[in-house]
Amino acid sequence: MLRSLFYSLPPSLRYWARRLYYFPVDTYDGIMGNRHPLQPPKGIIYTGSGDYLVESYKRLEQLREHCDFKSNSSIVDVGSGIGRIAVPLTEYLDSKGKYEGFDVVKMGVDWCKKNISSKYPNFNFQYIPLMNDLYRSDGEDPTTFRFPYDDNTFDSCVINSVFTHMVPEEVDNYMGEVSRVLKKGGKGIITFFIINEVSESNMSKHDGFKFKHDLGHYRLMDEKVKSANVAYNEDYLQETLLRKKGLKEIHRIHGFWSHGIRKDKKDDFQDVLFVEKI
Ligand SMILES: C[S@@+](CC[C@H](N)C(=O)[O-])C[C@H]1O[C@@H](n2cnc3c(N)ncnc32)[C@H](O)[C@@H]1O
Repeated sequence: MLRSLFYSLPPSLRYWARRLYYFPVDTYDGIMGNRHPLQPPKGIIYTGSGDYLVESYKRLEQLREHCDFKSNSSIVDVGSGIGRIAVPLTEYLDSKGKYEGFDVVKMGVDWCKKNISSKYPNFNFQYIPLMNDLYRSDGEDPTTFRFPYDDNTFDSCVINSVFTHMVPEEVDNYMGEVSRVLKKGGKGIITFFIINEVSESNMSKHDGFKFKHDLGHYRLMDEKVKSANVAYNEDYLQETLLRKKGLKEIHRIHGFWSHGIRKDKKDDFQDVLFVEKI
C-alpha cells in the first residue's frame, strides 16, 4: 500500500519524500560515523530498499565465483545507479582493472563521480538521459541506444535490478549491446523476474510479487508506470534475449520474489542469471 503510494509520486517528489523519511537516521549515522566511507546516506539511495552493502558485496562474491572475475578484469555496469555495484569493486580491482558504468539518473552518476571516480580514476561513470517512466519524465529512446563502448571491450558485465525496470523492446536492444561490448567468453550477472512453471506456481500459492498484466511474453505489475516492475517469460528470455544475442546461461540463482520467503539476509530477491558470450 505504502509502496504503491510512494511509486505513484513523480520521480522528483519521491526523491524528497525519501530524503525526509531517512533524515533522522542519516543525521545520526553521519554523526556517529556509522557508514562505510563510500556508502551514500539512505535518503539518497533511490535504487531500492535492500541493504546497500549486503547486496553490493554479494555481487562481487558471485562475480568471482561464477564469472572468472579477477582484480585486473574490465567490467561494464549497466544502470550503475548510486554506486552499489561499484563500491566493493574499488577494494577488489587493481590499477589494471577497469570499471565503466552509465545511468539515466544524473544525481546518482554525479554522486559516483564525486565520491568514487575522484579517488579511483579507473572507475568511470556516464550520465545518459534515456527515457524510463519509473525514473524520469523525459529522455531519449533506449530501444535504439548504442552503449558508448567499442565492440569486445569487457571481460564482465553486471546489470543488477535494471531489466526488471525496462520493457521488452528496450531489453532486446540492451542484450544485443551487452553481447557486442563483451569479449568472447566474457561473463556476467543479469537479474530478472522470470515467469516459468515454478514462479507461476509460487505466485498462485504465496504472498510474493504479483504481475497482474499478462502481455504474452512479458508481464507488468503496473500498466500506468510500465517500468515499475517487468517480468519476462522463460522461453522469450532463452530464445530472444539470450540465444539470438549470442549469449548463454551458465548458472542461475532463483530469487524469492515469487514466494516472498526470505531465509537469509543474503538471499536474492530477483532471479540472478549468470551469462556467457559464446
Ligand atoms: C533499481 S535501480 C538499480 C541500480 C544499480 N544497478 C544497483 O543495483 O544499485 C535501477 C537503475 O536502472 C537505471 N535505469 C533505468 N532505465 C535505464 C536505461 N534505459 N539505461 C540505463 N539505466 C537505466 C535507473 O536509473 C536506476 O539507477
